[in-house]
Amino acid sequence: MGLMTGKQGVIFGVANDHSLAWHIAERLHREGAALAFAHLPGEKMERRVRMLAEPIGAKVIHPCDVTKDADVEAFFARVRAALDKIDFLVHAVAFASRDALTNRFWQTGREDFRQAMDISVYSLIALCQKAFHLFNDNASVLTLTYLGAVKFVPGYNVMGVCKAALESTVRYLAADLGDLRRVRVNAISAGPVRTLSSAGISGFDKVLTHLPDQVAAAPQHHAGGSR
Ligand SMILES: NC(=O)c1ccc[n+]([C@@H]2O[C@H](COP(=O)([O-])OP(=O)(O)OC[C@H]3O[C@@H](n4cnc5c(N)ncnc54)[C@H](O)[C@@H]3O)[C@@H](O)[C@H]2O)c1
Repeated sequence: MGLMTGKQGVIFGVANDHSLAWHIAERLHREGAALAFAHLPGEKMERRVRMLAEPIGAKVIHPCDVTKDADVEAFFARVRAALDKIDFLVHAVAFASRDALTNRFWQTGREDFRQAMDISVYSLIALCQKAFHLFNDNASVLTLTYLGAVKFVPGYNVMGVCKAALESTVRYLAADLGDLRRVRVNAISAGPVRTLSSAGISGFDKVLTHLPDQVAAAPQHHAGGSR
């Protein structure tokens, strides 16, 4: 009997077996949870996610671009049909354009800023809206943030601004969803880990070499919200 036996929920953000979402999913599965996976539309992405999620008995594997309301709605319709209710939602989604991550921060373009905020921040609100009626009491929403929200981290650029907005979004969502549905909303600030996304951050390798002790110890801070 695992910690999550009898619980079921959805995972956004698996791109490959390095994804933090995948590590979270594996652990949830090991503890007995039933899982539904959203993946970026496209054959290659679907193949990659199926390869990982099918062997652990995923209940749903369905495309969803979080910038598209119709995709989010269709995804949760599938989840409702397969699971009816959910106990958790994992949001491990972020994106910033190459330009936004390689140029100096002050040069960030309007469209790059808008896109990064839409995918990395607003998506959490959009997912909570569409999942609202599926949540069981005491359900838990989890997103992932990073130190770059509260400190200057060279090269993290617009993503630092997104993470600051994400942490604030968590607090406001926690107040509303706690009040309306007794749903908890939290962010975990992960230490630096080599993934598809972090590979796009210039100087990320330097972060890893400069912080070996911190990486090993990986103290995670709670960015506010509900517990
Ligand atoms: N890797 C790190 O060092 C680190 C540290 C702290 C926080 N984080 C955060 O963890 C989360 C997961 O990132 P990761 O490092 O595992 O990288 P990753 O590349 O494996 O995951 C990012 C995911 O976002 C998804 N995504 C991007 N645009 C999308 C869209 N429009 N619709 C749906 N999905 C979309 C990608 O498909 C991918 O699965 C991110 O929020 C990231 O900022 C990562």
